[in-house]
Amino acid sequence: MTRAISLHDVSKTYGTKGGRVVDRLSLDIAPGEFLVLLGPSGCGKSTVLRMIAGLEEITEGQLLLDGEYANDLPPAGRDMAMVFQNFALYPNMTSRDNIGFPLRIESPGADHGARVGATARMLGIEDLLDRFPGQLSGGERQRVAMGRAIARHPSAFLMDEPLSNLDAKLRNHLRAEIAKLTRQLKVTTVYVTHDQSEAMSLGDRVAVLRGGVLQQVDTPRAVYGLPRNVFVAAFVGTPRINLLRGLVRAPLDGAMTVSLGKQFLRLPEPLTMDHQLLRVQQGREVIVGLRSEAVRIAKPSAARPGEVPLTGLVEHLEFQGHEVLVHFDTGSRPAVVPDLEAPRPARRPARRRRRDGGTALEWLRERAGALRAGSSVALLDRAAEAEAPGGPDAPAAPEPRLPGDLVVRTTPDLRLRHGMQVPLLVDLAHLFVFDQHGERICPAPDHLPDLEE
Ligand SMILES: Nc1ncnc2c1ncn2[C@@H]1O[C@H](COP(=O)(O)OP(=O)(O)OP(=O)(O)O)[C@@H](O)[C@H]1O
Ligand SMILES: [Mg+2]
Repeated sequence: MTRAISLHDVSKTYGTKGGRVVDRLSLDIAPGEFLVLLGPSGCGKSTVLRMIAGLEEITEGQLLLDGEYANDLPPAGRDMAMVFQNFALYPNMTSRDNIGFPLRIESPGADHGARVGATARMLGIEDLLDRFPGQLSGGERQRVAMGRAIARHPSAFLMDEPLSNLDAKLRNHLRAEIAKLTRQLKVTTVYVTHDQSEAMSLGDRVAVLRGGVLQQVDTPRAVYGLPRNVFVAAFVGTPRINLLRGLVRAPLDGAMTVSLGKQFLRLPEPLTMDHQLLRVQQGREVIVGLRSEAVRIAKPSAARPGEVPLTGLVEHLEFQGHEVLVHFDTGSRPAVVPDLEAPRPARRPARRRRRDGGTALEWLRERAGALRAGSSVALLDRAAEAEAPGGPDAPAAPEPRLPGDLVVRTTPDLRLRHGMQVPLLVDLAHLFVFDQHGERICPAPDHLPDLEE
């Protein structure tokens, strides 16, 4: 049996004075689905998982299991198995007994040998069954812990960073096994991680949380390709998306451009629908997002349709073996996303305030319902950030950033040196633009109303 898990406006508050650490979260997880909860440390991932498991009380909202109200159902009545980061095996029991333990609790006296054996075969740990935890490596112990969760044939798996204590190679290996196993068993799985590549490789869908607020829930492809806001764009993908502060210029009698400090991107005519919609941002500061695949090193004469030139000064080279990450100075200013720069925010992000005199596009988007509470990211000036007062409420100091404002991927055979001026081509088909609050405005939000209306 596999479960449908639904959260309706679920919030969690600790104590009477605290704010919501999970804020009106709504999610529908289909039977057999593998859903990943992704977000930075402290964003409420484990709290959500623990509320689903019944280990944490739900302050407001509803949890439904297979459509039935389940807020007050005791954990044992939920038929779910949890796998934690710090899995604990009984040290005085063999792997066989550890795996069989929940079965013995459930039906004492019955012979569970066959079930334990089948589980061990599935996990490839048959030859470890007679060993004690102290005689196993970390990865083997984690597999035994998984075995203990699987043997019961639960209706859902709840996994809280189960691989984060393992080294990279083992993590990749077990990641693939988890994916195979849960699909084989067709059991609904909610998997918590702060590792975006793990989320992208495992999830049928990925739910991105920030400060307890759901930012987006979508397939990995959609989260990467159509991030709802700048936070999601920056959280997902390596190398991190380049975020530059831009200014939209749309003179009535000239070409439309997005200026990036000393240079600009000239939007080719005829303007695409997405670029036309940018016109209403005329004179406004925006955040330009360029993933590394949007920029290549090539001369202007090699430009394909939709590509426009920039130049960059090589500031730093990161050799990765199969590729090189080139950090360029293009004379633009990077946009800073506060809680990406400070991974452990001490306070919740400020709620978006309505500005006076909203633009036509805002109006359209509000009508379309595309704006969602709490999904904003305020543009933060590096200077303002440096001057921010300290104290217990202040975000942690930003991590040092590498030099340059634009990172481009290239092959190792291209010989580049520090200080070289290099021609670049930007593919405008991959251009992201976010407004000052971090909402994506290009490509346009999906539910734009009919402009003729
Ligand atoms: N028992 C508690 N009392 C008060 N605050 C708590 C309690 N448990 C968690 N919190 C707070 O709730 C917020 C969310 O915590 P949670 O453990 O869900 O985060 P997380 O996303 O799992 O983080 P991590 O990636 O570090 O595990 C944090 O700010 C945390 O300090
Ligand atoms: Mg956690």
